[in-house]
Amino acid sequence: MRLSLRLAFCLIAAISLVTFIVARYQAGEQEQDLRSEMERRAQDLGESLQQIIQPILESGSLDQLQPIVERFGSREKVAGVAVYDTLGQSLAASSPEWSSYNYVPPRDMFDPASDQTIPLGQFVRLIGKPVYVYLVPLHGNGETGGYLSIFHDASYIEAQNAHFWRHTLWHIAAQVLSVMLITFLLVRWTIVSPLAKTTRWMRELRIGKVSPRPKLPDEDFFGPLSQEVASLAQSLVQARGSAEEEARLRERGDSLWTAERLRVSMKNKLGDSRIVVVSNREPYEHVRTGKTVGVVVPASGLVTALEPILRACRGTWIAYGSGDADRETVDPWDRVQVPPDQPQYTLRRVWLQQQEIDGYYHGFANEGMWPLCHIAHTRPVFEAKNWAYYQQVNEKFAEVVLQEIQGAESPLVLVQDYHFALLPKLVKQKRPDARVAIFWHIPWPNPEAFGICPWQREVLDGLLGADLVSFHTQSHCNNFLSTVDRVLESQVDWERFAVNRASHLTAVRPYPISVAFPRQEHDTGEERPPLPDKYSILQSLGVEGIYLGVGVDRVDYTKGIIERFRGIEHFLEKNPLYQGLFTFVQIGAPSRTNIKRYHDLLAEVDAECTRINRRFETKKWKPIVLFRKHHSQKEIEPFYKAADFCLVTSLHDGMNLVAKEFVASRDDEQGVLILSRFTGACGELRDALIVNPYDIEQLSECVRYALEMTPEDRRFRMRRMRRIVKERNVYRWAADFISALVELRLDNEASHQHQRVSKPTLVGA
Ligand code: G6P
Repeated sequence: MRLSLRLAFCLIAAISLVTFIVARYQAGEQEQDLRSEMERRAQDLGESLQQIIQPILESGSLDQLQPIVERFGSREKVAGVAVYDTLGQSLAASSPEWSSYNYVPPRDMFDPASDQTIPLGQFVRLIGKPVYVYLVPLHGNGETGGYLSIFHDASYIEAQNAHFWRHTLWHIAAQVLSVMLITFLLVRWTIVSPLAKTTRWMRELRIGKVSPRPKLPDEDFFGPLSQEVASLAQSLVQARGSAEEEARLRERGDSLWTAERLRVSMKNKLGDSRIVVVSNREPYEHVRTGKTVGVVVPASGLVTALEPILRACRGTWIAYGSGDADRETVDPWDRVQVPPDQPQYTLRRVWLQQQEIDGYYHGFANEGMWPLCHIAHTRPVFEAKNWAYYQQVNEKFAEVVLQEIQGAESPLVLVQDYHFALLPKLVKQKRPDARVAIFWHIPWPNPEAFGICPWQREVLDGLLGADLVSFHTQSHCNNFLSTVDRVLESQVDWERFAVNRASHLTAVRPYPISVAFPRQEHDTGEERPPLPDKYSILQSLGVEGIYLGVGVDRVDYTKGIIERFRGIEHFLEKNPLYQGLFTFVQIGAPSRTNIKRYHDLLAEVDAECTRINRRFETKKWKPIVLFRKHHSQKEIEPFYKAADFCLVTSLHDGMNLVAKEFVASRDDEQGVLILSRFTGACGELRDALIVNPYDIEQLSECVRYALEMTPEDRRFRMRRMRRIVKERNVYRWAADFISALVELRLDNEASHQHQRVSKPTLVGA
């Protein structure tokens, strides 16, 4: 209301001022016109009368004057006519009031140029009213013999003026009223009402009632406010969600890790310490499509797990800039704030030459280390030139890490995966005060298998530069410790799971990685389109059917995709009733296709899918739908939610986050997880149907069992698995992993203790 009044008052003042100035000018003009007209009329009449009266005065027949003045004095708009002698005595007057008018000829009538008196007009007030007096000198015998005086009533000029102002005032009043009304309505419709709705919505949100966010009009004006309100609401809903969940779990004597709890806990633990994550794969790639630049989140379990952590803890993520538009989007220091739509942390990009990518990434990391660590029967390839590039790129990344932690006190460096085995030592040599950990996202094989690597000593030496080396499972830790024991001169402490090499202590621990649960996107009241159901998905795929299975993987030989297809083929052979009713959707993101083995695998998967489809397909149905392209989480979600089961058949996998993503997405507590026993996830998700992917018979039996499982059994299993994923979510993983690193006593801090005890001691180990 106050805003409307203020706005209306300003508008009214401005409009009134302008109207008043214009009216004043118009009134002046009008008065001037009326006066001029009166003067002209008086002048005309004066000249005519002068012609008539002057001869009479000269002849001295004064008695003729009275009838003349009476005749002219009664003319329209003429108030009176009178003739005076030179002393001002009335000789004749059209009415008595003018004869008593004690007239003194004004001095102004004398014109020094002609040495004569000339006519003069004046507006004066006589007998209480405005009068225009026009005096004409009457000459007789060459001298002034008297004066003719014509009186015009000028009161109608004043009346006209008054009328004009009255009209103007009404005009202003009408304007004031309409301005007030329009302002009031405008303010109400465009500001007050939407803001009131938003306020009501926020109040409801505050008391825990989530409803759709009202739309604010005028995007230009309200856009920024609207965005702020939306993100504020999101934070509020998230914070409340976390608080409620925590309170609920506290009640139960349990404690759930959330993004918020992790943020607070890390803030308390780390204080001002900087946290830096290093990985080969970046969380956001800027990619050019035609003239536009878009953002892609790459298919990577590592990215899926670490992204929520960085969001919660802020910090810097250092990674190879692999997107073709990456260079256009960074600042002069190669940094960009991400996520692009709601920046929460810094991504520092590192640029690599083509030969570095070929040698370090394709060569040593993916043709050497990857098949070395995964027992999937693909022979590792080790070449000296690739090893040289691997060393070079590790050094390059170490330089960038050192730049990013320059000046930071006790920074935390979290190195990720098999691309950077040498990085921990390189960083630690230059910054012994930094706490360095490496998380190995893939399995660690037994010492015999690892012994294939010609540079196993160097790899182990680089890794042991870290204060903490972590794997998903205890068995990977054991394999690592056995490998170290066998290959290097060092002391392996099997009681405390640690290695002492050249007076440097490295703790070796399992931290099974996970996914964000509760999911990150909370309902802020934004209308979200309903997810398609199973039948519409099948229909959109052009198949008729009632059962749907799903698999989501990078097309990698470790994922057992061919084995999976054969299992489905066998299932359809053994259970012909399901032909025409069951379809399996494989979402396969092409991966590392520059490597021949991966390139060939894509073709193999394609061929196997076509072969099986040809064998069973009908006009309206086929058993396998294969998507050979990258899908975003948002695109995958409907398949997870609608599927009767999700099939994970890795031949060997460090963890496998698809299994956990599937479980996290099933808030309906339905759907069955069929999970390979060779995944890290299998150790935690015991309520999945555990399968050996090499055993096609067992695989096909599991598919049948999953489709025929009772809803109660599905719910029972899914509920238990969801509880596990929820409790052991990625926030807890990060909290455990980072806390372990923070709580370790570094070599320089522990030096006194070493002098006193013979055995290496790890605090927190
Ligand atoms: C695995 C590795 C990750 C890697 C991901 C995708 O999950 O552990 O480090 O990012 O595969 O592979 P890519 O080679 O495309 O990064």
